[in-house]
Amino acid sequence: MIRFDRVSKTYKNGTAVRGLSLDIDAREFLVLIGPSGSGKSTALSLVNRLIEPSAGVIEIDGENIAHTSPAELRRHIGFVFQGIGLFPHLTVAENLGITPRLLGWERDRIAERAQELLHLVRLAPERYAARYPRELSGGEQQRVGVARALAAEPKILLMDEPFGALDPLVRDELGAEVRSIHERLGLTTVLVTHDMTEGLLLADRIAVMRDGGIVQCGTPAQLMSAPVDAFVREMIETPRRRATRLAEMLSVAP
Ligand SMILES: Nc1ncnc2c1ncn2[C@@H]1O[C@H](COP(=O)(O)OP(=O)(O)O)[C@@H](O)[C@H]1O
Ligand SMILES: [Mg+2]
Repeated sequence: MIRFDRVSKTYKNGTAVRGLSLDIDAREFLVLIGPSGSGKSTALSLVNRLIEPSAGVIEIDGENIAHTSPAELRRHIGFVFQGIGLFPHLTVAENLGITPRLLGWERDRIAERAQELLHLVRLAPERYAARYPRELSGGEQQRVGVARALAAEPKILLMDEPFGALDPLVRDELGAEVRSIHERLGLTTVLVTHDMTEGLLLADRIAVMRDGGIVQCGTPAQLMSAPVDAFVREMIETPRRRATRLAEMLSVAP
């Protein structure tokens, strides 16, 4: 569904993505993980042409995206930004209607879609549609962010550290919710995070990035059982240690 073929991106001050090759299957949930500055956001933003590559080709469904206008491309790709990113002066329903309005949908259809989307992310429309972002909790705001990205029924969902600003419980709940929406809608999802536990729990495959390249790409089980090097081993060490400690605690619990 999405193919990176030897893609590089060089900014004035250096190379953020170097020689990245990666194939993401239709309906796959792929997690891009790596330390801050490893090129995750750049790699993700190349897919909907928020950033243009310096070299290499990105294909969606076999088509070089350089030949599709960014506007057309973004109709088929939902994007959830780092942080929250709702428009503060628009209500929830109005935020959800932004893309449909740009696409010229009828007013009734836009209103109907807002209702559907709120149901999808489990926010009761009668309670939430008319509120402003500041009248929502962080978790609720990010549910609206996810709903907004799905407004025009995209096939692809890109998310850049969508749960970063949320407390751990809400984060966990929303992660599971997104995974469930991914299944139900048959999406191809790419999620950027720096939290390996989150990655292991959500992903079909994890691509570990470092210095603009992919160090290892595999299923959570492959990463856990056969990390390619010390860097990947270190990244899975914390989740592994936590899992072991929790298992021990649970085995002695009454
Ligand atoms: N717009 C930009 N202009 C110049 N350098 C950038 C820009 N965006 C990112 N970078 C640099 O590219 C590298 C990778 O950044 P980024 O893709 O944001 O990494 P990550 O999302 O993994 O933290 C960093 O060194 C960053 O400083
Ligand atoms: Mg980033």
